[in-house]
Amino acid sequence: MELKGRNQRKQQSPDRWTSSMMKSSSLFCLLYLLVLLLGFLCIALTGYWVQRWRGGFALQGSALFNWHPVCMITGLIVLYGSAALVYRLPFSWTGSKFPWKLLHASLTLAAFIVSVLGLVAVFKFHNDHKFPNLYSLHSWLGLAAVGLFSCQWVTALCTFLLPWASIWLRNLYKPIHVFFGMMILTLSVAAALAGINEKLIFSLDPRINGSLPYASLPPEACLMNAVGILIVVFGLLVLWMLLRPTWQRPDLSGPEVRQPLLEDDEEEECQ
Ligand code: HEM
Repeated sequence: MELKGRNQRKQQSPDRWTSSMMKSSSLFCLLYLLVLLLGFLCIALTGYWVQRWRGGFALQGSALFNWHPVCMITGLIVLYGSAALVYRLPFSWTGSKFPWKLLHASLTLAAFIVSVLGLVAVFKFHNDHKFPNLYSLHSWLGLAAVGLFSCQWVTALCTFLLPWASIWLRNLYKPIHVFFGMMILTLSVAAALAGINEKLIFSLDPRINGSLPYASLPPEACLMNAVGILIVVFGLLVLWMLLRPTWQRPDLSGPEVRQPLLEDDEEEECQ
C-alpha cells in the first residue's frame, strides 16, 4: 500500500516527489553514518575499558575472557546491525542487486565469525578455570541470539543465495527473514546489556578483589553503563530505520528480487 501511495504521489507531482525523496535519502544516509559512528564508539570504548581496567587482551589466563565482550559487541551488534541496513541504502535501489547481496552476505558472515571467536574465548576461559557453563540469564539470552543467527544465515543462504529455491518460496520467506533479523538484534542487545551488568557486578566487588564497589559508581562502571546506553541507542536506531516504510526498497516484485546471488545479471535478463 505504501508503494502504491508512493507511485501515486510520484505521478501527481514529479518535482515535489523527487525533492522529498532526495530529502528522505539524505536523512537516511546521515542516520546511517550516525549508526556507524555509534557502533565504532561502542567497540572503541569497550576496548579502552578492557585495556585500562581489565588487564588487556591475551590468548590465555584471565585476559582471555576480555576478547569476549569486544568480539560479541563487534560481531552481533555493530557488524550485524550495519549489515541489516544495507538494502535500505537509497543508492542500492537502482542497478544490480548483486553487489548489495554480496555485501549483506559478507557482513553477516563476518559478524558470525567474530561472534563465534568471542564465544570460543569465553567457553575456553570458563573451562580453563573450571567455572560452570551456561548458568546465567545472560548466557541463555546470548546463546538464543547466536543459535537463531546461525539458523537464519543457513536458511537465507539456501533460499536467497543458491539457485534452487522457487520465487514463491523466496517471497514467502522474505518477511520472515526480516522479522527474525530484527528479533536477533533485539536479543543481542538484551544479552550485551545483561553481560555488561553481570561483569561489573562480578568485578567491582571489594570483598573479593579490593576494588571500589559498583554502588559507588567508579569511573569504570560509569564508562560501561554509558556503553550500555550507546548499545541501546544503536539498536533502537537500526530497528526504527528498518521499520520506516519510506526507506524500504521500492518495487519488491521486480525481477531483481528473484535473482539468486550465484546467478549473474545477464542470465537473469534472458529468463
Ligand atoms: C551479544 C552479545 C553477547 C553474547 C551473545 C554473549 C554470550 C555469552 C555466552 C553464551 C556465555 C556463556 C559462556 C559459558 O557458559 O561458558 C557468556 C558468558 C559471559 N559473558 Fe557474554 N555475550 C555477549 C556479550 C557480553 C558482553 C558485552 C559482556 C560484558 C562484559 C559479557 C560478559 C559475559 C560474562 C561475564 C560471562 C561469564 C558469566 C556467564 O556465563 O554469564 N558478554 N556470554
